[in-house]
Amino acid sequence: MTETFQLTREQARAYDELFVPALFGQWAPKLLDCARVRPGQSVLDVACGTGVVARTARDVAGPGGRVVGVDLNPSMLEVAREARPDLEWVQGDAEDLPFADAEFDVALCQSALFFFADPGRAVTEMARVVVPGGVVALQTYAPLAEQPAYGPFVDLVAGHAGPEARILLGTYWSQGDVDGLLALTSASGLSLLEWRSSLGVAVFPSAAAVAHTEIQATPLAERILPETYALITADTEELLGEYADESGLVRVPIRATLIAARKG
Ligand SMILES: C[S@@+](CC[C@H](N)C(=O)[O-])C[C@H]1O[C@@H](n2cnc3c(N)ncnc32)[C@H](O)[C@@H]1O
Repeated sequence: MTETFQLTREQARAYDELFVPALFGQWAPKLLDCARVRPGQSVLDVACGTGVVARTARDVAGPGGRVVGVDLNPSMLEVAREARPDLEWVQGDAEDLPFADAEFDVALCQSALFFFADPGRAVTEMARVVVPGGVVALQTYAPLAEQPAYGPFVDLVAGHAGPEARILLGTYWSQGDVDGLLALTSASGLSLLEWRSSLGVAVFPSAAAVAHTEIQATPLAERILPETYALITADTEELLGEYADESGLVRVPIRATLIAARKG
């Protein structure tokens, strides 16, 4: 999932059907709560993907509110539009938002800050498009050192595949440090409302599927030998076995960082 902005329509559909229920969906109500979204507000969902935050925002903002999702990837937007044609879906870059100054009450960004070439610029853009007194809120994942399962998993992969694996599997964990997020928001003229550390769960059909999903999402898949892949899979099954339930599903704990900050 590293370069999700290059997904095809089929992959975008799979993202919505598999990954949103398994991982991304759970953070949307938490992010809206952290941002204190209220009925009647206008809400922008930046890097909306297939729109889970926008859809949840509509439930809170209600028919008197306005909800807009913006994403670079046309396939993600197509799937979003099919599901909710009543919301506004716009193609655009988080680092150069196609909206006027102060057009929204709230700007949200979930599970995407770590994909942006310049996350600070995206936060500045989010601050620009909210009204004075408006809120910018971000959800990202805590650093690997704070991840109870993904930390040991990445250590395991790096043990077999070499230190390069740490970089290739590092994207998701690169923007969750609270001090870093506080620096980003204050550099954009925002003052902290609240930050939260939230332990959630990523659900996979098996432990082997965790290894498969993470490795296939990166160039590591082409760079490791089949026997290395097999060793990683076997060790991952042992490492994550404790998270399997009676049905065989593996519920991997994953820690998110949420931060909300006010403009002016
Ligand atoms: C992991 S998905 C998260 C989507 C959604 N926020 C969610 O929680 O399901 C990351 C999204 O970021 C989008 N993205 C990446 N870089 C972007 C950019 N510079 N501007 C806008 N969207 C971007 C991708 O197209 C993808 O839809």
